[in-house]
Parts: sequence; C-alpha cells; structure tokens
Amino acid sequence: MELNDKSIIGIVGSGAMGTGIAQVAATAGHRVLIYDNNMEMLGKAKHTLAMTFAKLVEKQKVTAEQAHAIVSKITFAEKAIHLHECHLVIEAIVENLDIKRQVFALLEKTTEGKCILATNTSSLSVTSIGAAVVRPRNVIGIHFFNPAPLMPLVEIIPGIATDDSTVQSCKKLIESWGKVCVICKDTPGFIVNRIARPYYGEAMRIFEEGIADIATIDWALREKGFKMGPFELTDLIGHDVNYTVTETVWRQFYNDPRYRPNLCQKRLVEAGFYGKKSARGFYDYTAAELPQPKKDNALAEKIFNRVIAMLINEAADALYLQIGSREDIDLAMTKGVNYPKGLLKWADELGVANVYNQLKQLQDDYGDDRYRPSFLLKQMAASGTRFYS
Ligand SMILES: NC(=O)c1ccc[n+]([C@@H]2O[C@H](COP(=O)([O-])OP(=O)(O)OC[C@H]3O[C@@H](n4cnc5c(N)ncnc54)[C@H](O)[C@@H]3O)[C@@H](O)[C@H]2O)c1
Repeated sequence: MELNDKSIIGIVGSGAMGTGIAQVAATAGHRVLIYDNNMEMLGKAKHTLAMTFAKLVEKQKVTAEQAHAIVSKITFAEKAIHLHECHLVIEAIVENLDIKRQVFALLEKTTEGKCILATNTSSLSVTSIGAAVVRPRNVIGIHFFNPAPLMPLVEIIPGIATDDSTVQSCKKLIESWGKVCVICKDTPGFIVNRIARPYYGEAMRIFEEGIADIATIDWALREKGFKMGPFELTDLIGHDVNYTVTETVWRQFYNDPRYRPNLCQKRLVEAGFYGKKSARGFYDYTAAELPQPKKDNALAEKIFNRVIAMLINEAADALYLQIGSREDIDLAMTKGVNYPKGLLKWADELGVANVYNQLKQLQDDYGDDRYRPSFLLKQMAASGTRFYS
C-alpha cells in the first residue's frame, strides 16, 4: 500500500506516545485522527497538544498561524469507527498483547483491510499482533522513542508475515517526517532495548559487587561521553518501567543470563522507589546534597571497560544474528539513546581483540555465561578483522 503526504493517519491511544506521534504526523502536514477509549485521556491529549504548540509559538519555533494550521489538522475521535478512512493507523495503547490483538482485529474491520496497521509496542511480538488479523501482510511495528517529537530514531519492525511493500512504504513516510529509520528483526527489545540492557545491568552488577558506588559509576561513564550515567538515567526513566523492560526481554530470551535483571533494582521497585518521580530511586532527591563521585581514573577505566565490553558484545551478537545491519545497529544507539558513538565503531577504536579478551576474562573469572563473548567477536579477534575497514 502506497503512503504519501496526503495519507490520513490514525492514532489509537492518546497517552504520552500517541499524543507525541500525532504531533509529529500533523506537523508533517497530515490529517490526523486520534482515538482513545478513555474520554478523559482524549481531553488531556487535546490540552497537552494546545499547550505544546503555545510553547512552540512562544519560543518562535512556529508562527501562531502555523500552529493553528497544524492543530486544526488533528481530530479527536470518540469512536474507533471514525478511523475508517485512514491509510495508516499507529496503535499506542497499553502494553498488553491480548488487548492489542483485540484492537488490531477491530481496526482491520473498521478500515476494511485497506490500511496499514502499525504498533508502537516496545516489547511485544509484532508477528503475534499481526496474527490477530486476516491480512498480517499489512501489519508492522513502527517504534518511536519518548518523547516522539524530539527523538530522531524510529525502529521499523516487519513481522514474519509482513509484506516488503508495507515496510518500504512506512520507511519512506516516516523518513519524510524527518526521522531516522532503522529496520530490525522481530525479536525481543528490537535493536535499542536489546543492546542497551548491559548499560544498566552491568553497572548495577558492579555496584552490587561493591566495586564502586552509584555516583562514581555514573561519573565514570559520563567521563567517556555518555550523557547520563546508568543510575541517574534509570532514576529518570522510572524503575517500574526500566525493570519491566529488562525482565520482559530476559524472559523472552528464555532466561538467558546475559539479560538477567538485578535484585538491587527489583528491591527499589518493591519499595516504590521508582526514581525522580517518587523523589527516591538509587539517589535520594530529598537529601540536601547528592553523593559525590570518587574521581579515581583507574577505577573509572575498570568500570568503563566492563560496561563497554558488554554493550559491544550485544551489538556484535545482534549483527551476527542479523537483527539489523552494521550501519543500523550503530545508528540506532546514537539516535535512539544518544550514545556518543556507534558501538561497532567503538569496538574498532578499542580493538576487537581487546574487547573479546576482556569478556573472556570476565567469563573465566565469574564462571558465568552472562559474559560469554559473541561468536562473531571470537572470529574477528582471531582473524584480526574490524567492523569498518
Ligand atoms: N512511554 C514510553 O517511553 C514508550 C516508548 C516507546 C514505546 N512505548 C509503547 O507505546 C505504547 C503506549 O505507551 P504510552 O507510554 O503512551 O502509554 P500511556 O499509558 O501513556 O497511554 C496509553 C493510552 O492508551 C489508551 N488505551 C488503552 N487501551 C485502549 C483501547 N483498548 N483502545 C483505545 N485506547 C486505549 C489509554 O486510555 C491511554 O490513554 C505502549 O505499547 C508502550 O510500550 C512507550
């Protein structure tokens, strides 16, 4: 199915993601219909969008006329049937497989099978959602990052029954909205939420072992170019959200120890210490002063080497298992989670053999399969090859 700048875009779910995606699509010039089964949420989305555009006018990012023109392209639909004329519907409702499958079956009937149906799911199988409709060839994952208007990356995920024409039409359209698209295989966590796991998990492991405190680990990784350390970042994301993603990815990989969640984070969730939003997470935001790092360069190097080796291992294994192309894997981490460099490029700079040896050492020391190096790294270390020539 062809999509173009005249295509009518439907959004289902007017929460944080649906509202952001509606803003992006309307700004790109589309008519947008946004539907939610909760009228209060729909009203809230209308208010949020009005406030957002008022701020953009104030900051002179758009003129008042432009803002008015964009907002008037968005219709707030109280019934799903109002989406019948849409060419592309992007679903951004609650992360629940059964509910998503019901909504997709309803959407296919509503649009009479003449529409591409996309899901913004972060962790569910696109193939499984697609299997709920008669024409899974029209079903795809289009995964925006939060906040959708600001984050440049979009992961495009074909299910195993998705037509290539559906993939190409969506990619072309979303790129025309100014986004960077990467194509990834329908596997747990897609590219970003799979490869980023050790940034949190290995840092928490280092903390659990008492090698360094949270402020020092955060400082060490900021020193290497990461915008935020893993503890301040998970405090910001919310431990309820971050822990759930980790646990879901781990379970979907049949409890592979590489993705094993950390008890220190589980306890925070159990305590209701979700992070910044509850004034307490790894850090206590009610304290007069936050803890200061121990600025020890040798310790910082040790922390960095362990975390980066685990991240590179994930990136290399994702390439080996054809989850995405070399370029897309590097692009995803720089555009989706603001890493200072692509991880495969970083591996070349650090030396693939050095990274492999670091992992092998950790595996020997701990006797834990969590540290097993990707077969690709092993082959490359033996032959002295690089990811980029
Ligand atoms: N929040 C994030 O950081 C983020 C990032 C990327 C992807 N996602 C994914 O996007 C989706 C939405 O996330 P969110 O954070 O915007 O959630 P949210 O809770 O803010 O919003 C979900 C909305 O869906 C509505 N809804 C629930 N069931 C519905 C139904 N049957 N029909 C119509 N509307 C229904 C709710 O009323 C609510 O307004 C999820 O699949 C999530 O995994 C979230």
